[in-house]
Amino acid sequence: MEGAPRAFLLFLLMVSQPRDASPGTVHCLPVSVNGILGESIVFPVLNPGAFKSITWHGPSPANAEAHASRGPLAVITPGAPGALPHISMEDERYRGRARLHNQSYSLEISDLMLADVGMYSWEIASAYSNILCSYDLHIHKRLSEPEIRIHSVMAGNGTCNVTFTCSAGVGNETIKYIWTRPAGAPVFSIEESLLVQHRLGDEDSPVTCTAMNPVSNSSASASPKVACEGPTPPQATSLSYCHAKGILVLGVLGTLLAGILTVNVLAAREQRWP
Ligand SMILES: *[C@@H]1O[C@H](CO)[C@@H](O)[C@H](O)[C@H]1NC(C)=O
Ligand SMILES: *[C@@H]1O[C@H](CO)[C@@H](O)[C@H](O)[C@H]1NC(C)=O
Ligand SMILES: *[C@@H]1O[C@H](CO)[C@@H](O)[C@H](O)[C@H]1NC(C)=O
Repeated sequence: MEGAPRAFLLFLLMVSQPRDASPGTVHCLPVSVNGILGESIVFPVLNPGAFKSITWHGPSPANAEAHASRGPLAVITPGAPGALPHISMEDERYRGRARLHNQSYSLEISDLMLADVGMYSWEIASAYSNILCSYDLHIHKRLSEPEIRIHSVMAGNGTCNVTFTCSAGVGNETIKYIWTRPAGAPVFSIEESLLVQHRLGDEDSPVTCTAMNPVSNSSASASPKVACEGPTPPQATSLSYCHAKGILVLGVLGTLLAGILTVNVLAAREQRWP
């Protein structure tokens, strides 16, 4: 049953056997994977079948002291027939964050931190061969809504030059920017900044910046008309709640004032003409 897929796997793995590998160890091509800061990632193990041990290694820690005391991230050895396998996980860096999936021994790391970047590898020792496969983990932040900075200058003749600059900046992370206009239309710039010429009085045609990194994308829009002409004044017919309330209060005050004046004038008259 297991013979065919394993033979196929081995065939694929033979492709990249380094010269210095210990005899009988087959290496996979390392796979690059993108994790999201604060979220989880699963590194799969290919169908282990019968094994003598499965060993997970994490990346080398940055400081040498930790490096000296470091063992494998996890070691799984089969138990006695019918008993559960023995699992040891002693790397402090992953305490409470690493777990192995049942049956497959795939490694899941949750609450990813920037320090988790690097090479993760699993090695299966079986009666016939050793297989060693690696994952190169990169970590990216999930992008939040980009910020659009606006700089506008009058270019004469009723034309306004607006430069929009999009930024979803998080440290030195590589982010790609795409400008579209109107939103959803084909790409028309992939620069961080975009120059738009707006003729005063023309229809508005908002621009949208989409920031992208390997794990997420996020968009924001801006209006050349507002950038050049300022916000559209509120329509006279559409009274806001505040305006309506203000007018009502003025009305009530006016009526009260008129009432008081009338009473006073009448009182004065009565005094003069008893
Ligand atoms: C406005 O943009 C046009 C086109 O890019 C450019 O030729 C012109 O010099 C700009 N004018 C100003 C005042 O920046
Ligand atoms: C200003 O705009 C008018 C009409 O669009 C055009 O005929 C004229 O050549 C423009 N002048 C300059 C200096 O750009
Ligand atoms: C942006 O992300 C969504 C999922 O959040 C995805 O469906 C979409 O294809 C992405 N767009 C681009 C241009 O990468």
